[in-house]
Amino acid sequence: MYSRIAGTGSYLPEKVVTNFDLEKVMDTTDEWIRTRTGIERRHIAADGQTTVDLAEVAARRAIEAAGVTPAEIDFIVFGTTTPDLVFPNCGTLLQARLGARGCPAFSVETACSGFIYALSIADGLVCRGQARGVLVIGSEVYSRIMNRLDRGTCVLFGDGAGAVFLRAGEGEGTGADRGILSTHLHAQGGLGDILYVDGAVGQADRPGHLVMNGREVFRHAVTKLAEVVDEALAANGLVHGDVDWLVPHQANRRIIDAMGRKLGLPPERVVVTVDRHANTSAASVPLALEEASRDGRIRRGDLVLMEALGGGLTWGSALVRM
Ligand code: ACO
Repeated sequence: MYSRIAGTGSYLPEKVVTNFDLEKVMDTTDEWIRTRTGIERRHIAADGQTTVDLAEVAARRAIEAAGVTPAEIDFIVFGTTTPDLVFPNCGTLLQARLGARGCPAFSVETACSGFIYALSIADGLVCRGQARGVLVIGSEVYSRIMNRLDRGTCVLFGDGAGAVFLRAGEGEGTGADRGILSTHLHAQGGLGDILYVDGAVGQADRPGHLVMNGREVFRHAVTKLAEVVDEALAANGLVHGDVDWLVPHQANRRIIDAMGRKLGLPPERVVVTVDRHANTSAASVPLALEEASRDGRIRRGDLVLMEALGGGLTWGSALVRM
């Protein structure tokens, strides 16, 4: 039994903020942001627009692309670290909006690796026969947790949502089967202090802003993502060059390029959205997957490797035959 990606959907808020817009309001330059990260612009949610608002549009697009109705969703797994409320969780808020009555729904809080974690959990539910149709979401409004006085972080993030609908399907048990072939998840809580949000419920004096030691995160991202890429290939008896597409987390162009080189992929086989979306945390991988699926680059039968690393630290991969 495999879980197959039957449909993808995404949504980006209308408002676009360029590096040049940021130059006018803080001590930064387009040149600094572009050369260090590859980011040129980002989408920012409107006042009052929430994570579930963005997710609802992406989810409706994904289920429409899969050709199913909300009644056919029998599980929702929602990756986010910018929830609308402490509870109900974003999964149940979305379930109510979609009218997907009765299906279990919950959120996964692993920051930028949130979609990979959510996809892995959803795959397990399908393979154990607990669900036949699962809606998997990554949606975030990181603009709400930025410290506007910290130019080292607030230029790096944007808002958005991506979704996939997974459907159960049977295969022959070979590498030619379509569906999620493997997922690998990791965490190292001892590194929690290099990337975190400094606020929580009951801490009224702490507004909750993202804090990052960029150099340390960069260093761990390059080594840990390289390891997880090798782990995915080895688990499937594959070698560098077998993968058709890399759909990486979109945090920094330099990290993305390093992973593409490691896989022996030409640049045009690496899906890049960081220039236009910046880092949308849990939304970044499904946004990139959706873009390359919808514009016809990724085709049925292609082998796609997704990877991400985020606060926790948490990281992981998913290898999928589309
Ligand atoms: N504009 C202009 N100058 C800036 C800016 C800015 N926006 N931000 C920082 N600077 C300055 C610093 O003050 C510093 O100046 P100084 O040398 O006079 O002190 C200089 O630029 C260099 O700063 P560094 O932080 O050392 O810059 P670095 O080359 O490390 O790049 C960056 C920073 C882009 C953040 C990089 O470290 C990075 O991409 N890290 C990884 C981020 C990442 O992958 N995150 C993913 C996970 S996110 C999540 O899970 C939520």
